[in-house]
Amino acid sequence: MSSSNFLLFSLTLLIIILSPIPYFTSASLEEANVLLKWKASLQIPKNSLLSSWIPFPLNSSASVPCTSWFGVVCNADGRIQKLNLTSSGLMGTLHRFSFSLLHNLTHFNLSLNNLYGPIPAEVRHLSNLVYLDFSLNKFSGVIPPEIGNLHQLTILSLYSNNISGPIPIELGNLKSLTHLVVYKNQLSGYSFIIG
Ligand SMILES: *[C@@H]1O[C@H](CO)[C@@H](O)[C@H](O)[C@H]1NC(C)=O
Ligand SMILES: *[C@@H]1O[C@H](CO)[C@@H](O)[C@H](O)[C@H]1NC(C)=O
Ligand SMILES: *[C@@H]1O[C@H](CO)[C@@H](O)[C@H](O)[C@H]1NC(C)=O
Ligand SMILES: *[C@@H]1O[C@H](CO)[C@@H](O)[C@H](O)[C@H]1NC(C)=O
Ligand SMILES: *[C@@H]1O[C@H](CO)[C@@H](O)[C@H](O)[C@H]1NC(C)=O
Repeated sequence: MSSSNFLLFSLTLLIIILSPIPYFTSASLEEANVLLKWKASLQIPKNSLLSSWIPFPLNSSASVPCTSWFGVVCNADGRIQKLNLTSSGLMGTLHRFSFSLLHNLTHFNLSLNNLYGPIPAEVRHLSNLVYLDFSLNKFSGVIPPEIGNLHQLTILSLYSNNISGPIPIELGNLKSLTHLVVYKNQLSGYSFIIG
């Protein structure tokens, strides 16, 4: 190693050592903004627990979404891992929910709200999803066949909505699925049997 290369190497090493550990990285700031953008599209009751979801930099600590946002649980990397917004009085759609930016979501519970409109095909981006519970809402349209790409999915609960069409045959690809709960909808038929 030439001396100038060595100097560069030493400097780089020094910079790495002196950098603070990025507990909450810019990518997870992006994730927090996904939630804020979606929240802005919803009608939520006054005094909602979602009032803890406040934009940066009002609150000085950037790790706030992981520590003090209602219903949000992060993984060790500071990425959003669980969203539990069951029975939160939410009214609105998923149109503004950027599924493709929440790579690490494993648990997504929106049960018991007043959410309506389609379940977007973009749900396919939640490739680590284990639990999906959209039950007891007013979702309509079809069950997106793209849900069949969510290979970790164990529980899919969509009961008591206004979903129509058949159960897509693609759900047969879900090898980990143990619970498929779809009663109380407008489903037209069963195109496969879980084996
Ligand atoms: C930041 O968040 C904490 C915890 O929720 C809260 O107690 C504090 O008032 C907030 N600060 C500001 C400036 O909003
Ligand atoms: C989800 O939220 C509800 C209501 O806030 C709470 O009762 C329930 O224990 C939570 N579930 C999990 C798995 O955290
Ligand atoms: C989070 O998602 C990214 C992108 O898919 C992946 O590389 C990473 O391993 C995931 N982290 C965890 C803890 O699952
Ligand atoms: C979603 O939350 C409700 C209420 O807390 C709970 O009964 C249900 O089991 C949860 N769904 C999943 C898939 O954990
Ligand atoms: C159910 O969905 C259909 C469209 O698929 C819509 O016309 C109807 O108004 C919805 N019903 C309720 C109760 O939301």
